[in-house]
Amino acid sequence: MANTCVVGLQWGDEGKGKIIDVLVKDFDIVARYQGGSNAGHTVVVNGEVFILHLIPSGILHAGKECVIGNGVVVDPAQLLKEIDELRARGVTVGDNLRVSDRAHVVLPYHKQLDQMAEGRKGGGKLGTTGRGIGPCYADKMARNGIRIADLYHKEHFKELLKTNLEEKNYLFTNLYGGQALSWESIFDEYCGYAERLKPFVCETVEYLNSAVAAGKRVLFEGAQGSLLDVDFGTYPFVTSSNGTACGVPSGVGVSPKALKRVLGVLKAYTTRVGSGPFPTELDNETGEHMRQRGKEFGATTGRPRRCGWFDAMAVRQSVMVNGVDDIALTKLDVLDDQPTLKLCVAYKCENGQLKAFPSALATLVKCEPVYVEMPGWMKDTSGVQTYRDLPAKARAYIRAIEEQINVPVKMISVGRDRAQIVTKR
Ligand code: GDP
Ligand code: IMO
Ligand code: MG
Repeated sequence: MANTCVVGLQWGDEGKGKIIDVLVKDFDIVARYQGGSNAGHTVVVNGEVFILHLIPSGILHAGKECVIGNGVVVDPAQLLKEIDELRARGVTVGDNLRVSDRAHVVLPYHKQLDQMAEGRKGGGKLGTTGRGIGPCYADKMARNGIRIADLYHKEHFKELLKTNLEEKNYLFTNLYGGQALSWESIFDEYCGYAERLKPFVCETVEYLNSAVAAGKRVLFEGAQGSLLDVDFGTYPFVTSSNGTACGVPSGVGVSPKALKRVLGVLKAYTTRVGSGPFPTELDNETGEHMRQRGKEFGATTGRPRRCGWFDAMAVRQSVMVNGVDDIALTKLDVLDDQPTLKLCVAYKCENGQLKAFPSALATLVKCEPVYVEMPGWMKDTSGVQTYRDLPAKARAYIRAIEEQINVPVKMISVGRDRAQIVTKR
């Protein structure tokens, strides 16, 4: 299979982990290019549930190489925990995992800042995962970041840490009314992590470029979703990285020309966790029913996900920005008992119907979805294995989505397990 990026087209949690797990057999390498432990990618194998936050979803397959690219922000404690937990469950994690020495490190002050800044925002909070993601990327861009490579130069690391903490502690004590952190304990803790991570840390840019040149097949694993992308999402209610395919070249250091296919993952309805506009949200019994049936609770924070109808208006923008070639449509089975389905095809605003997904938050919050209604299929699809065995009304729903977004659906997921997948030719 040609080098492919798997990217979420909504607000995250589209089922990227499951789709990647299904696709991995056709690839040699799986590489994460952005985000951090804010991601939670679920893979279910024979009823056994694995939730991956930093390690690529290919790790469960023997013989595949996994890379955490330079664009990822790495919380070493979380990464080591994930490695230990996978090993305890019999998964091999050794020289099949490479971590970029250029990746930025999430430090305790990033997490504290994330949580304190959210607390200070009160009702206007973003609803972040509290994993220190925003502050870590902010430091990267402000050129105050500490990279994994720095951890192996102790005097340099100590100086960076002391300088950074001076500024952060000023904020903690003077702005947020909190406690200062001590550089000594962070230094000791992180030197310990660095030792344990040493076998995995390397120069991944060279490695990936050589692999691409040698014809190895790479799957780039996106985290979050296109509507959470810092440039193309519902800013400021977004994450701090480019989860769209646009993040691949800078997030792993390979040329944009290496990417041959973009597979968009779409949930058959919409969910969002955290704050921010969500025009098709169902803050009612139908939404609650979707949440329960779809087990829509965050894989990272356990928070209930907000649920709503499929929003073609929002997805069309994601399709355009990513240059999506084809779609994996997930969680179709969750809609099995909906008598009527609604599909948002446009937004109505003060000045009539909008032609494009609005950039301005002030406009988006005023938008009202324009729906087309479709009859539900009211049949169990969770055991369906071939496209023609899907109920005709389910096929009509899939066709309607394809027509709305102008991209073919190639895979349909009808349950959590690896085996619950329908390929459409
Ligand atoms: P990701 O972040 O995009 O990898 O998605 P998450 O793992 O956070 O959330 C998707 C959830 O839906 C997980 O609990 C999956 O096990 C589950 N899931 C994935 N595909 C399907 C499906 O087709 N049907 C059902 N019922 N659940 C699914
Ligand atoms: P996966 O990869 C869903 C959301 C948070 C919050 C916003 C900013 O599993 O799809 P952050 O902690 O990144 O600063 O939070 O982004 N968010 C996600 N929502 N799935 C994710 O990842 C998410 N990662 C971050 O809920 O609204
Ligand atoms: Mg998730």
